[in-house]
Amino acid sequence: MKEGIEGAARLLGAARRAAALTGAGVSAESGVPTFRGEGGLWRRYRAEDLATPGAYARDPELVWEWYRHRRRLVAACEPNAAHLALARLERLLPSFTLITQNVDGLHARAGSRDPVELHGNLFRARCESDGETRTADGSEGDGIPRCRAGHPMRPDVVWFGEMLPEEALRRAHDAAVAADLFLVVGTSALVHPAATLPVLAQQSGARLVEINPEETGLSGYADISLRGKAAEILPALVELAFPEAREGGEG
Ligand code: OAD
Repeated sequence: MKEGIEGAARLLGAARRAAALTGAGVSAESGVPTFRGEGGLWRRYRAEDLATPGAYARDPELVWEWYRHRRRLVAACEPNAAHLALARLERLLPSFTLITQNVDGLHARAGSRDPVELHGNLFRARCESDGETRTADGSEGDGIPRCRAGHPMRPDVVWFGEMLPEEALRRAHDAAVAADLFLVVGTSALVHPAATLPVLAQQSGARLVEINPEETGLSGYADISLRGKAAEILPALVELAFPEAREGGEG
C-alpha cells in the first residue's frame, strides 16, 4: 500500500493531462448513500419503479417524490475531503478533467469548476418538450414542476435505458483519450458507458489508478489499486504528489 500510494503520487506529480472518473463512493463519507453496496439505494428500492422512463410515464408524482427525497438528503450533506482534494487537483495540474457519475452536485460545491456530469444533476429539472432546464432554489413545492410554456418538467438525470447527455459524453471521451493519468474513484464500474472510460484511457496510453476500499471489475486493469476510503487516500495522495503546494497558494 505504501509503495502503491508513493507510486501513484509520482504519476500524479508528473501528469500533464489527467482525468478522474468518480462514483457514489466519493460522496459516501458525506453521508450520501451509494447504490449497490451495504445500505445502497438499489438494495432498498427497485430502480424499475423509480429510475426508468417507464416508471415516470406510469407515476410521475412518485418519481418526483423520490427525487425530492434525495434532494433533501443531499442538501443536508457537505462535500468531504475527497471532493476538496479533487478540486485542488484542478488548480495544481496543467490540465485536469473531472468526470462524475454522481448527480449530487457535491464536486461543484467543493470548488470544482466545471465537472462533467455524465448522469445529470439531482437539482435540475428539464422539459422534454422544449428543453428548458431549471435549477432548484429550495422554493419548490410538491407536485410536478412546469416549464414557462406550461409543460411538465422531469428530473434532469439519466435513467436506466437512456442515452447519456451528448456534450458530457463527448467531453468525457475526449479527456479519456488525451489523458496520461486516469484516476477511478469510488465506483463499482458496472454501469456503461461510464465504466468504459478508464479502459479507453488506458488503451490510449494513460496509467490507471483506482481508489476504492473494495476490488472492482476494473481492479485487474489498474496499474495501481489503492484500497481505502477516498476521503482518506485522495488528500494524502495530493499532498505526496505536491508537497510544496499550500492550500490557497497555487493560484
Ligand atoms: P455503486 O453504488 O455501484 O458503487 C459504489 C462504489 O464505491 C463501490 O465500488 C464501493 O466499494 C465504493 N465505495 C464505498 N465507500 C467508499 C469510500 N468511502 N471511498 C471510496 N469508495 C467507496 O455506485 P456507482 O459506481 O457510482 O446511475 O454507480 C454507478 C451508477 O449506478 C450511478 O451513477 C447511478 C447508479 O444506478 C444513474 O443514476 C444513472
